[in-house]
Amino acid sequence: MTSGTAADQKLNADVPWDDFDPGEYISHNYLTMQAVDQEIVSRMRDHFSSHFGDHFPDGGRVPSGIDVGAGPNLYPALAMLPWCDRITLLERSARNLKYLRSQRADYAPHWDQFWDVLCQDEAYAKLDVAPRVRFKEAVRRPESGSLFDLGTDPRRWDLGTMFFVAESITTSLAEFRRGVGCFMNALNPGAPFAAAFMEHSVGYRVGDVEFPARDIDDTEVETALGDLAQDMKMYHLDNPGDLVRDGYTGMILVCGRRSDSPV
Ligand SMILES: C[S@@+](CC[C@H](N)C(=O)[O-])C[C@H]1O[C@@H](n2cnc3c(N)ncnc32)[C@H](O)[C@@H]1O
Repeated sequence: MTSGTAADQKLNADVPWDDFDPGEYISHNYLTMQAVDQEIVSRMRDHFSSHFGDHFPDGGRVPSGIDVGAGPNLYPALAMLPWCDRITLLERSARNLKYLRSQRADYAPHWDQFWDVLCQDEAYAKLDVAPRVRFKEAVRRPESGSLFDLGTDPRRWDLGTMFFVAESITTSLAEFRRGVGCFMNALNPGAPFAAAFMEHSVGYRVGDVEFPARDIDDTEVETALGDLAQDMKMYHLDNPGDLVRDGYTGMILVCGRRSDSPV
């Protein structure tokens, strides 16, 4: 999908996010771990472990992490468990928030396969408590809110993730860029981050409901990140013969750090 006419535009505020069905989404994407998610989780794990291994060779955690537009996906939060005291799960959809809150006490068994991949790194395997205990302790209350409000939020986080959000919540290039900027600006200078994007997505369906996407590629991701990111690695996860999600050509994963100097 390209830019289209103004009438084709779907801005973030136009979309019925409360119609997002977490059960449908999970059964399509996360009930059984796909090879592409296994690769994403592995690369994110290695990025965080290498960053915090250098900073805390004797162990230790930063105060806070955030997963923006968490939806019904727990693996970004699981990847943060060894590294930060508190995790904010920010989400706009009431149904997704209800799902996230339902997972706090005892998350569903299908998330264990993602934890097992994380445990291929010693820092995860040797966590001092069970991951479910740590998850409950770290994720106090999934938070209702918008990515775009992070631009004026005085809080800053020490670790951040954003998976399939900025390009998958609007058809607008301006909103995509603003979303990426708001995410990066919510991080403290030097904070490690991982962000994933659908490449050339034409939108997606969850159950009977169509959701919009902005058609973006690696150049557009780099432009949106601009000088907000440093030490950045970009991975293409292209597997066109076996696309697990509909209407896109691949996935882009970026691992890096929020730039040290204030922008
Ligand atoms: C494609 S889903 C991605 C969900 C999840 N991060 C994942 O990895 O599967 C997009 C998510 O962004 C949420 N969302 C939509 N607009 C948002 C906004 N303005 N701020 C935060 N989240 C938003 C949706 O409710 C949905 O959960």
